[in-house]
Amino acid sequence: MAQQVTVTEHILLHQKMVPGATGQFTRLFNELVLSAKIISRAVNKAGLVDVLGFTGEVNVQGEEVKKLDEYANRILIHRLARSGVLCAMASEENADIIEVPESLPRGEYIIIFDPLDGSSNIDVNVNIGTIFSIFKRRSDPDAALMSGDVLQKGSEQVAAGYVLYGSSTMLVFTCGDGVHGFTHDPSVGEFILSHPNIRIPEQGKIYSVNEGYERYWDRQTKKALAYFKSPKNALRKPYSGRYIGSLVADFHRNLLYGGIFMYPADLRDPKKPTGKLRLTCECNPMAFLVEQAGGMATDGLNRILDIEPEHLHQRVPFFCGSLNDVRMVQEIFEAESRRKKKK
Ligand code: AHG
Ligand code: MN
Ligand code: MN
Repeated sequence: MAQQVTVTEHILLHQKMVPGATGQFTRLFNELVLSAKIISRAVNKAGLVDVLGFTGEVNVQGEEVKKLDEYANRILIHRLARSGVLCAMASEENADIIEVPESLPRGEYIIIFDPLDGSSNIDVNVNIGTIFSIFKRRSDPDAALMSGDVLQKGSEQVAAGYVLYGSSTMLVFTCGDGVHGFTHDPSVGEFILSHPNIRIPEQGKIYSVNEGYERYWDRQTKKALAYFKSPKNALRKPYSGRYIGSLVADFHRNLLYGGIFMYPADLRDPKKPTGKLRLTCECNPMAFLVEQAGGMATDGLNRILDIEPEHLHQRVPFFCGSLNDVRMVQEIFEAESRRKKKK
């Protein structure tokens, strides 16, 4: 029988290789894995029990919140706070930083998460996910936590990943030593290493974007789309269009098959052109993963991981995926910015 490596074994091996490791990260990860199992169980039952449908409330971003989002958020906050190794958490669903209560043991880690991504797909049985990003605090652990501890550049992440609730549940993450994928085996209740050292193909063949909004895009994004649809591109044929509308699912497919995911700036309000996706809980973790797999992530002109976050719920344009494809988008953006400067 092929040797089966569980996610816990994998993390313990990683811990052994890090000099001075204290086991804190392992404890955090164990709580994350348990939360993933609990959320996965709820997702699988979503059509059967009364966790389905709207709560009628809106979250801090003004979007409708579904019950399963709230449940996933509650599970993550409750479980992760008990790891004893966090000083703070932040969630897409909460306006402010969530500090760990003084009654609980604390540590030096910070986790930012999107508890349920792709939530518009819950009611129609389409893949959804959980995204996470982990940092270490920079300020003195005995002093008060600073906002800069939570608002760090993506390049400072110590780990990031996602759980995909799909035809099977998968946990895909990086601790900075490549990207590894684990598939949940419900018969033993463990995540088993199924995709070691994932590499994204250098040249993609898929583009993923909500093309319905093309009229609200800038010139350079329209040019990029035209490139992917042209038979004169690097592939010598139009790319396939694939868009699920769950970042985790679209990202996961592109990671394995090769391709580019785009959520460009929307110019509907010309004074405030901005992307939809959130830098801290969506773009940073995906950017860390894609770079670790050999790909690239940019806002058009800047590497996502180099952007200094100004606030927790900041949104950025996002282009992420195979190296050649994202590089091409960045070249188109740079050419357009040179053209504008010349005018
Ligand atoms: P969330 O469900 O966490 O709010 O995120 C939804 C995001 C992301 O998953 C997806 O890529 C994007 O929104 C889809 O947006 P559009 O419906 O505008 O295409
Ligand atoms: Mn999301
Ligand atoms: Mn969400």
